[in-house]
Amino acid sequence: MEKNFEVLITRKIPEIGIDLLKAAGYKVTVNENDQPLPRVELLESIEKFDALVCMLSDKIDKEVLDRAKRLKVIANYAVGYNNIDVEEATRRKIFVTNTPDVLTAATADLAWALLLAVSRRVVEADHFLRQGKFKGWAPELLLGTEVSGKTLGIVGAGRIGQAVGHRALGFDMKILYYSRQPKPEFEQATGAHFLALDELLATADFVSLHCPLTLETHHLLNEERIFAMKKGAILINTARGPVVDEKALVKALKKRHLAGAGLDVFENEPEVHPELLSLNNVVVLPHIGSATVETRSEMARMVAKNVISALEKGVPVNPVNSF
Ligand code: NAP
Ligand code: GLV
Ligand code: GLV
Repeated sequence: MEKNFEVLITRKIPEIGIDLLKAAGYKVTVNENDQPLPRVELLESIEKFDALVCMLSDKIDKEVLDRAKRLKVIANYAVGYNNIDVEEATRRKIFVTNTPDVLTAATADLAWALLLAVSRRVVEADHFLRQGKFKGWAPELLLGTEVSGKTLGIVGAGRIGQAVGHRALGFDMKILYYSRQPKPEFEQATGAHFLALDELLATADFVSLHCPLTLETHHLLNEERIFAMKKGAILINTARGPVVDEKALVKALKKRHLAGAGLDVFENEPEVHPELLSLNNVVVLPHIGSATVETRSEMARMVAKNVISALEKGVPVNPVNSF
């Protein structure tokens, strides 16, 4: 049955999401280039759409919303929604939705991949071998730092932060966390201790960031806090780049105040501070936290369900706003 709803998807997503929207009878427009939708095109076309499925790299601000005369729902293909001006959307009675839970395990696994890669110099060692430098086992070849038994500090103990904590139990780690609210169930399940941020930073051997990017968390790890971290600690960021002052991080790494960093996100994506790329104690990934076949399909299903529910029932499945 053909309905009059029109949906814009700003970049190709797994087919299941597109199929569900088409099966609901909507007219679906997908940016067929596997590139971000140019902002001018978004601004020119948004007027006719009832629903928008957008990527975390699309900035959905007042300028876009001013032109979005028919828009009823913005379904972000991500759990983080700092790319959307939620306040402006709410003012216009436009729902904003995200994709929680389905990407928690994948993202927590990737934080752990970074933690292990940095501490055991996995990427550096791989390059060493490929460059033909492996001349046989040696007692002091590529020594890293022990992970098991150390202290992990989690900043932002939400879904992903807690999943990272649960994984730390398998490494016999002591778990510290900082969040806006204490999490008694998490403490009970993992033995984690709630600490003030500055205490956590001064104590933890590994600090992993899992808070959203908000006005409060922008540069939460500024120069002062980075240098107040335990000397020789390792920082893992799979949250959002601007939570860390990237310039200050480079400084701390160069001075060897920090032993290393594992980064999936950057302050000005897709740009990366050039000095990070020249440091061999840093592992850099192109924002692939949720990038598994299984998770990305679930996310596609979820954005479609949110659009359908918002348009048909007047309330989506995973709203981040209400009015
Ligand atoms: P979540 O369940 O909402 O968890 C976020 C936690 O951060 C909440 O528990 C919240 O604390 C805490 N928080 C909020 N403001 C804080 C502050 N000012 N200081 C300290 N903690 C604060 O979200 P999630 O599903 O775990 O996702 C977390 C973030 O990960 C997303 O927002 C996104 O930016 C990022 N992410 C990245 C990737 C990737 O590809 N790298 C993938 C998925 C998600 P309280 O509960 O104490 O209020
Ligand atoms: C990815 O970064 C997400 O927020 O889902
Ligand atoms: C290393 O391979 C060992 O057997 O200790």
